Amino acid sequence: MHWKQINEHVQVWLREVSRQLLLGRKQELQVATKSERTDLVTNIDKQVEKYLVAKIRATFPTSKILGEEGTKDKDLASSQGLLWIIDPLDGTMNYVKQRDCFASMIAVYENGHEKLGYILDVTAQKLYWGGPECGVFCNDERLPKVADLSLAQGLIDVSGRMLMNNYHNVCKMAQTSMGIRVYGSAGISFIHVLTGKTVAYFSHLHPWDYAAGKILAHAQGLSVKGIDDSKFDMLSSDDVLVATKNAEEDILKLLG
Ligand code: IPD
Ligand code: CA
Ligand code: CA
Ligand code: CA
Repeated sequence: MHWKQINEHVQVWLREVSRQLLLGRKQELQVATKSERTDLVTNIDKQVEKYLVAKIRATFPTSKILGEEGTKDKDLASSQGLLWIIDPLDGTMNYVKQRDCFASMIAVYENGHEKLGYILDVTAQKLYWGGPECGVFCNDERLPKVADLSLAQGLIDVSGRMLMNNYHNVCKMAQTSMGIRVYGSAGISFIHVLTGKTVAYFSHLHPWDYAAGKILAHAQGLSVKGIDDSKFDMLSSDDVLVATKNAEEDILKLLG
């Protein structure tokens, strides 16, 4: 399928997602916990996933879908047709506590190949989107390629959990870099690497956390690597490193 046939729909859906997320953050949220005390889900996470799944099923009925909030079609690994991986609200803790710094993400694969990725930075009203066939855009403007800086020349971004446990020796990586940042939204962190604000982002991630960012990063000439799982594919959870090629080389040497 031509990428434009998919893109014209997704861009419209994401405008509605943006509206729902902005409206939701002004309201009292229904917040529940999932796997542990700090793993939150709100009525808005579920509402946005329901909206997107309904739109995908109505528009591209033979699609397979994986969504963070419970959507999981059978035979996801079968490589025929369109596969959608969605994170309706990325940075739920930020959404609940700060009402800022959150995203919505959609990844589209076709016949097992990366097709299109979308990361919507809702409060900035910026949609980062694109893929191998069209390049990467921020709203209507093509994103310039980022400089291939080393770790020592830039900022590194890691998850709070990795930092608190010095997992994989991230403290040494931070000391080698120009400084460390923690944002609480994988989508926002991917955007920072895509735009050259950081040279690397390192976090334990599930497919919906990295799928869109991975497609965009590849189209930007950046490297995305699963550290622990040798079979890292579109459906694995792993410690994921996205970085410039130079920073990746530096980080892999420091990996503990
Ligand atoms: C989380 C955020 C966070 C990352 C977690 C993710 P969610 O996504 O992206 O930054 O450290 O690993 O689970 O649950 O808010 O969609
Ligand atoms: Ca979550
Ligand atoms: Ca997420
Ligand atoms: Ca989420």
